[in-house]
Amino acid sequence: MEKEIKTVFSGVQPSGNLTIGNYLGAIKNFSRFSEDYRTFYSVVDMHAITVRQVPAELRKRTYETLALYMACGLDEKKNTLFVQSHVPEHAELGWVLNCYTMFGELSRMTQFKDKSAKHAQNINAGLFTYPTLMAADILLYGTDVVPVGIDQKQHLELARDIAIRFNQTYSETFTVPEGYIHTDTMKIMSLAEPTAKMSKSDTNPNAVVYILDSKDDILRKFKRAVTDSDSSVHFSEDKPGVSNLMTIYSAFTGKSLDDIEREFDGRGYGDFKLAVGEACADGLATVRDEFARLMADKAYLEQVMKNGAESAHRVAFKMMSKVKRKIGFVN
Ligand code: TRP
Repeated sequence: MEKEIKTVFSGVQPSGNLTIGNYLGAIKNFSRFSEDYRTFYSVVDMHAITVRQVPAELRKRTYETLALYMACGLDEKKNTLFVQSHVPEHAELGWVLNCYTMFGELSRMTQFKDKSAKHAQNINAGLFTYPTLMAADILLYGTDVVPVGIDQKQHLELARDIAIRFNQTYSETFTVPEGYIHTDTMKIMSLAEPTAKMSKSDTNPNAVVYILDSKDDILRKFKRAVTDSDSSVHFSEDKPGVSNLMTIYSAFTGKSLDDIEREFDGRGYGDFKLAVGEACADGLATVRDEFARLMADKAYLEQVMKNGAESAHRVAFKMMSKVKRKIGFVN
């Protein structure tokens, strides 16, 4: 299959408030593809219902996630931005792919194991087949590259295996996608417990910085961030707190770790934490302003959703027709 222009797909669930980990590890990198690739970014509401959602909240977060995409620099004219449930082929291909995915494969997914432990009262079939819906998202668009956080690597590998299996059973149908995992900033750790990943569901309010936090909150959280008993700003494995702050500072300022060590040589943690807080708050200021502006204009967001769903549907419909033909469904 010759294609001149490559395709990028990624998705974010409209559940929970997004953290600077989501921002630096995934969303901030999405816009770098806009110029040279055909890009699809979806608000994956169908994935969100694998855990119980309050309907009004889900609806609100769907708007918010779209607004956040745009506030983080995704221009709706250069990217197809859409809501997953607006394009019915996702559910349709998801079902088909269920029949080409093994029970054993799904049982080995660590996210399924984690989420089943966390939601023991609601281990539904959708939670189990979550990765086949994700594979459908990706494969529908002939995706070459999938920018995701490191935690999605296993799901991506499964999507590749499913594509290869389908292609071998029939003939070349799906592009086998590659992950794009941004390694420098892929893992932002908790500010309170820097050996654990920063997680949007953390119950400690000082552990997590959200994209939409106010400047005061951001400064306060960094001020309280856990470091260690010595006082040198130095990147190393036995200094997880300081190293995490250096990673965040580097991501927001573009400075190298060496430069940062030199900048804070002999200055102590107080100065350093303040600088990290300010760099983070400044870096997020435009995102926050743009988000507020977009959220005040629902009609505009709805227009973006509608346009996005139409262009996504055109591509998805073609792929779905091809799949139906190959597996022997009557046209
Ligand atoms: N599972 C992803 C996450 O939780 C979200 C997602 C759904 C996704 N479908 C996708 C990411 C397709 C990339 C491609 O982060």
